[in-house]
Amino acid sequence: MSLNGVFSAATASAENILEVHHLSKHVGQGEHRLSILTGVELVVKPAQSIALIGESGSGKSTLLGILAGLDDGSEGDVKLLGESLGALDDEDGRAALRARDVGFVFQAFMLVPTLNALENVQLPALLRGESDAHSRTQAEQLLRQLGLGERLHHLPAQLSGGEQQRVAIARAFSGRPRVLFADEPTGNLDRKTGERIVDLLFSLNRDYATTLILVTHDEQLAARCERRLRLLDGKLQEVA
Ligand SMILES: Nc1ncnc2c1ncn2[C@@H]1O[C@H](COP(=O)(O)OP(=O)(O)OP(=O)(O)O)[C@@H](O)[C@H]1O
Ligand SMILES: [Mg+2]
Repeated sequence: MSLNGVFSAATASAENILEVHHLSKHVGQGEHRLSILTGVELVVKPAQSIALIGESGSGKSTLLGILAGLDDGSEGDVKLLGESLGALDDEDGRAALRARDVGFVFQAFMLVPTLNALENVQLPALLRGESDAHSRTQAEQLLRQLGLGERLHHLPAQLSGGEQQRVAIARAFSGRPRVLFADEPTGNLDRKTGERIVDLLFSLNRDYATTLILVTHDEQLAARCERRLRLLDGKLQEVA
C-alpha cells in the first residue's frame, strides 16, 4: 500500500522529535496516591519507529497521552517537536501544535458519534482551514485504502470495532502528521486487517519520514519497529 499522491512530503528536520527528562506522573491523594511514571527518560529522532511495550496497567496509555501533549506530567520536561509542552501551558498552544504536526489514535477511538466516517476523517483538515472539496477527496481516498469505501456514510455506532479503529487511524493520518502516536492500533483487528494497518503505518514512516510511536502488545508489530521500549516500574528501558 503506497501513500504517494495522498500527502505532500513532510518537512525534513534534524531536531529531535521528542526529548523527555525526569518525567513522573502521580495521581490521587494520601493513601490513594498512585505513582504511574517515576522518571522516564527518552530521546526520539526524526523518522524513528518506536514500539512501547509493557504489561497492562504499566502506564503506556498515560505516557503516550503526556508525550502527545494531551495530558500533563507531574514533574519533568517534555519537549515535542522542539516545543516545551510545559511552556505551552494554554490549551490553545498545544492544540495548535497537535493540529499542525501530531496524529493520535486513541485506544478507545474517540470518534465523534454524530459524524459519519468520512466527516470524522475530514474534521481535522477542516479545522485547519482546508477546503471542503480537497479534504473530502483526501479523506475518501484514505478510507478506501483502509478498506472502508463502502462505509463512508456510516456513523461510528453503525461500524464494527475494527472499522471504527480504521476510521480513527485514517483521521490521525489525515493531518499529515510529523509524528503519529497510536495506542494499540491493531488491538481490535483480525490478522489480515492488522497487517494492512501496519503496512500503512510503515509506508508513512518510509515515504514521509513520519515518526511512529506505537503502544502495542503485538509482537510482530513490535519486531518491525526500529526500537522497542518497555515500561516497567514507571521507567522506560530499551529492549534488544
Ligand atoms: N486518572 C487516573 N486516576 C487514577 N488511576 C489512574 C488514572 N489514569 C490511569 N490510572 C491507573 O494508572 C495505571 C496505568 O494506566 P494506563 O492506562 O496508562 O495503563 P496501560 O499500560 O495503558 O494498560 P493497558 O495495556 O491495559 O491499556 C493503571 O493502573 C490505571 O488504573
Ligand atoms: Mg492502555
